[in-house]
Amino acid sequence: MVFIGGNKRVKNTRGVYPLLKGMSSHKLPTTTSAAENSDLIVYVNGKLVQRNDASISVWDHGLLYGDGVFEGIRAYNGVVFKLKEHVDRLYESAHYIRLKIPMSKEQMSEAVLETLRENKLQNAYIRLLVTRGVGDLGLNPMNCSNPSIVIITEPTNSGEDPISKPVGVSAIISSIRRDPVDATSHEVKSLNYLNSILARWEAIDAGVNDAIMLDTQGFVSEATAENIFIVAKGQLATPSIDSAILHGVTRQRVIEIAEDLGYVISERRITPFELINAEEVFMTGTLAEIVPILKVNGRNIGPGKVGPVTARIFGEFTKIRTKTNEGTPIYSNQGKSGEIRAPLQEKSLTKI
Ligand SMILES: Cc1ncc(COP(=O)(O)O)c(C=O)c1O
Repeated sequence: MVFIGGNKRVKNTRGVYPLLKGMSSHKLPTTTSAAENSDLIVYVNGKLVQRNDASISVWDHGLLYGDGVFEGIRAYNGVVFKLKEHVDRLYESAHYIRLKIPMSKEQMSEAVLETLRENKLQNAYIRLLVTRGVGDLGLNPMNCSNPSIVIITEPTNSGEDPISKPVGVSAIISSIRRDPVDATSHEVKSLNYLNSILARWEAIDAGVNDAIMLDTQGFVSEATAENIFIVAKGQLATPSIDSAILHGVTRQRVIEIAEDLGYVISERRITPFELINAEEVFMTGTLAEIVPILKVNGRNIGPGKVGPVTARIFGEFTKIRTKTNEGTPIYSNQGKSGEIRAPLQEKSLTKI
């Protein structure tokens, strides 16, 4: 028997960080409770199935070898934030690992929207993954003919929830390095997240919230599932692509926000010394959104409080994330009555 997902629904706390001592509490975006999630529908290879029936083969090379690619995406108030950018990145990752996705980008985007509609979701976290597909126990990808495509959508709270202040977290610098370009490449969002997982274990062992990884040269790269920004001498900087980062969708939008707000921002190499002596540090990611880092390796960042630049960018991000022009509407009646389109009666999409 294969167990994928879970029968029991526990409150999902991914991306939600315990507060640093002494900080005021508020809600970060989370997924909702067991009762609300028990009837979720999952897209598996062109079919919409009940969550407990959502499964793929144990001979799938996504499971056997981590051979596949994925995306994590958010929808806010009926709009999938930067859907096009995520789908583009998915196809670029797939192209790099020579995985031919058997549907067009438009069909993939529509499958995401259809899964959201089927679940009547307006605010959601979306996990989209494509594996090499079923093969034999050998590594040879040529023996896998049909990629498996899975789309999981879970409710999150509304992008309109009043979040006045960002919550700060603590981090360590991990001993685990990000993948270099001549290994599996940091630019591929692949199903192999072992370096992030090992780094996260170091954070857990150290009793902090997250781990910052360096590139193989020792420059700051990124956190386990987030990009990093620093504020130093009033100017913003974020590690450039030659520091083993993933091309973060949120990172790109935050760069644009910073520019629009008139900040000087550069993409460049950042040393651990600069990171620890920065006035402010924050991380960005689809699920985490914008999270200030207030302590690294036991040293306070600046005064150890959320800084003004981070707070301003956070505020701006929470304003733009719900805007229609930031993504793709899920429902055709978007913005009219606010009602959600009735779910499909037919539990099957066109077979790909
Ligand atoms: C390793 C890594 N870096 C950065 C990010 C942030 O990317 P995005 O803003 O596109 O979510 C992620 C997101 O999953 C990630 O896994």
